[in-house]
Amino acid sequence: MTAQQITQLNQDFAQATAQEILHYCCEHYGQSIVFSTSLGVEDQMLTHIIASDKMPIEFITLDTGRLFPETYSLMERTREKYTIQINIYFPDAGHVETMVNAKGINLFYESIESRKLCCHIRKIEPLQRALKGKTCWVTGLRGGQSEHRADMQIFDWDDEYGLLKVNPLIKLTEEDVWSFVRSHHVPYNKLHDKNFKSIGCCPCTRAVNEGEDARAGRWWWEDAGHKECGLHER
Ligand code: ADX
Ligand code: SF4
Repeated sequence: MTAQQITQLNQDFAQATAQEILHYCCEHYGQSIVFSTSLGVEDQMLTHIIASDKMPIEFITLDTGRLFPETYSLMERTREKYTIQINIYFPDAGHVETMVNAKGINLFYESIESRKLCCHIRKIEPLQRALKGKTCWVTGLRGGQSEHRADMQIFDWDDEYGLLKVNPLIKLTEEDVWSFVRSHHVPYNKLHDKNFKSIGCCPCTRAVNEGEDARAGRWWWEDAGHKECGLHER
């Protein structure tokens, strides 16, 4: 897809709802669409839309092995409520063993390099497997989550995976998402009620204080500039 075509798509869908964007993807990408859900509130909104309209989109989640018990419990509640299959991708056991035996189980606190290595083994490599052979990848990214995400678009060509990346909620505010989730009784992670805004792995996520940005609780010991795990680095 050319840059011009992507720009055109973004113009055409500038005012579209998430549902309309997803229906467009289904019409054009058929059975080859993957939605990666971390079970965060944005992802739950998308899950509700996809499942309610029975869209032919595959749900996948990356189980790093270090998720919160609340996240696992939501995974089950979501699967049951919407009667959907969520395909779980795990890290390669041999790579995890080699890493933790060489660098320790909590290596991520030691350096950015170690943290990125852990994210690579536990998240990126499984994502690469999940996206293999797919032509369209749906995410729950929102521009308001961080400066880095502020200029992201609804449609983006992902060079690394060679597919169309679609972020249907990119223009929504946090309030928009919560209003949808509450009015449609969408199940959400109980940690959100304890001031967790962005939820990743347990040892690398904390609650945020009033006025802090949504991702301040992720890898909080690092400088703000480094706070991407590589899933959405451009
Ligand atoms: S992250 O890169 O810092 O981990 P974040 O938690 O904000 O990302 O989530 C942004 C989007 O990345 C989610 O909407 C989802 O599409 C994808 N994502 C993040 N973590 C996971 C996960 N564990 N499994 C599947 N998708 C994920
Ligand atoms: Fe490892 Fe933390 Fe990255 Fe999870 S968020 S994969 S525990 S470094």
